[in-house]
Amino acid sequence: MFPVDRPRRLRRTPAIRRLVAETSLEPRHLVLPMFVADGLDSPREISSMPGVVQHTPDSLSAAADEAVRAGVGGLMLFGVPRPEDKNGQGSMASDPDGILNKGLRRLRDDLGDSTVLMADTCLDEFTDHGHCGVLAADGSVDNDATLVRYVDMAVAQAESGAHLLGPSGMMDGQIGAIREGLDTAGFADVGQLAYTAKYASAFYGPFREAVGSTLRGDRRTYQQDSANRRESMRELDLDIAEGADMVMVKPAMSYLDILRDVADASPVPVAAYQISGEYAMITAAAQNGWIDRDAAIMESVTSIRRAGADIVLTYWATEIATRL
Ligand code: PBG
Repeated sequence: MFPVDRPRRLRRTPAIRRLVAETSLEPRHLVLPMFVADGLDSPREISSMPGVVQHTPDSLSAAADEAVRAGVGGLMLFGVPRPEDKNGQGSMASDPDGILNKGLRRLRDDLGDSTVLMADTCLDEFTDHGHCGVLAADGSVDNDATLVRYVDMAVAQAESGAHLLGPSGMMDGQIGAIREGLDTAGFADVGQLAYTAKYASAFYGPFREAVGSTLRGDRRTYQQDSANRRESMRELDLDIAEGADMVMVKPAMSYLDILRDVADASPVPVAAYQISGEYAMITAAAQNGWIDRDAAIMESVTSIRRAGADIVLTYWATEIATRL
């Protein structure tokens, strides 16, 4: 008889496949990124991310409640200030009345400790030039001056009720600076989900619309080059040494090898962010009838889990959690 080995036996029925599936997906593994915008009368759909909106405070509350009832593990909040409120320092990021801090207070009031409330700790939504940090006289992004702003922003987010901060700006030393700032301000219990391996990516395109970004140019002087693998290990070592409580790889689908490397080496939980462009690609192909939307969503998120993510940030978090 030939062949002797028949792997297909374990694929024969849905029940056998379910029995031997190595990777699982549960609602608690999923984090929903959300946008709250200042000055809107009603939620505004993001055209390049059909199904995702910029929320008003009221619609934010309702959507967060729905996500938490569906069982998602956490929420990651981004703020979209009014254009006239942006400036070179990104002042509204650390203003208690800035839209992100107001959104955080609202969600923490609503939800208490029933979910994990996370905040994007980065200036790009709040600066008039759209960079993730403040600029030096020559127009370059000034690393150390930016750290001072991140600390102010972090303390404001902790005061507003965030459980976990997500520093996403890729400034050197940001995790250590924020850790020290939080501890000094009496927020030793507020943790950091470090954006450890964050690559300069064309797939962030729709996010720029989502937050009304004014960026001209790119972020290649601070985000990683997609050609590189080794430096992610260096970034991991640095973030761990500086006090990261969790680490993240981003984007997800084009960086699954990096995710596997980080997952194998990390002493702390690992997250991956299925970003706006990944959402947009699957959504657009499905709208054209070119792929099976629901199957593609489940396959993509399962693959990110298989590559080593304990936690997946995805704009489909509520939908997937509901389906599960
Ligand atoms: C920076 C930030 C970005 C994203 C999350 N945080 C944009 C960027 O780095 O250019 C992208 C998320 C997405 O594309 O879904 N604050």
